[in-house]
Amino acid sequence: MTEQRDSYSDVIRSLPNPGLGLGLRSKHFNYILEHNPEVDWFEVISENFMDSGGRPHHILRQLAERYPVVMHGVSLSIGSTDPLNKEYLTKLKLLAKEIKPLWISDHLCWTGVNSLNTHDLLPIVLNEESLKHICNRINRVQDFLHRPLVFENPSTYLTFKQSTINEWDFLRYMTEETGCGLLLDVNNVYVSAFNNDFDPVHYIHQLPHSRIVQMHIAGHQHCGTHIIDTHDRQVVQEVWKLFTLAWHLTGGVATLLEWDSNIPDFEVYHAELLKAKQHMSSIFDMELNPEKQEYSEEAVSNPVNFMINDIVVN
Ligand SMILES: [Fe+2]
Repeated sequence: MTEQRDSYSDVIRSLPNPGLGLGLRSKHFNYILEHNPEVDWFEVISENFMDSGGRPHHILRQLAERYPVVMHGVSLSIGSTDPLNKEYLTKLKLLAKEIKPLWISDHLCWTGVNSLNTHDLLPIVLNEESLKHICNRINRVQDFLHRPLVFENPSTYLTFKQSTINEWDFLRYMTEETGCGLLLDVNNVYVSAFNNDFDPVHYIHQLPHSRIVQMHIAGHQHCGTHIIDTHDRQVVQEVWKLFTLAWHLTGGVATLLEWDSNIPDFEVYHAELLKAKQHMSSIFDMELNPEKQEYSEEAVSNPVNFMINDIVVN
């Protein structure tokens, strides 16, 4: 097991940085096919193509020959107590065999129980018991797929009294126990930090930076007392600042802009992504230990469950 974990770690460390990527959305299919835009790579939602034949699948096959592709899942449900879904994993493996993604990612979350899929990315209790449970499942999935997985930090709206481990430590233990990689969503860090009253700068500093293979940036809706992770607008300056910090700490990794609701025309989406270039060379100027800001005193449950054209994304 240790040998296998070490080999997965080696794979994670050897993954390339393909540059700045965009999420592949059906709204943009025709534009991409006609214009061959100079995008470094695309991230596809695995579930949108696992069951579909027809035009979407045909287009994905074409694009996978022209661009590097990463598969990003929303239904692995690694934190669930349900048995691992072999049918789902088999389809995931088949799709990966077909389009040859640079890596396959999913979220540190659970999406349902008793075979029910809520299509939402639900928060987990962070303690030793859940860590053992999740690492065991990650090991089994990685061995089934014969490759390491990459896990994303979720956006959350509550914490559990039963949690005894900080999320950043939990993620680090996951990488140490399984050899998996991390997808750092800096917008999720910002959203969760505001909603759950922790310092996003400290969070990013504490992560194992050599295990981060990708970043997400996105826009969110600030509701005053809480923030909702909507992915429906431009990235705010504070999130760009966190991106700058993470860029320097990781040495620069593949970065993707998520925009999943009110999706603009392709050129607008691409232009927002390219703003990342100026932030890569910026100097991080957020205070390392900022005073507590106007955090919500009351945590809220996750109200986000947007079934969009292309499934739920976080
Ligand atoms: Fe994300």
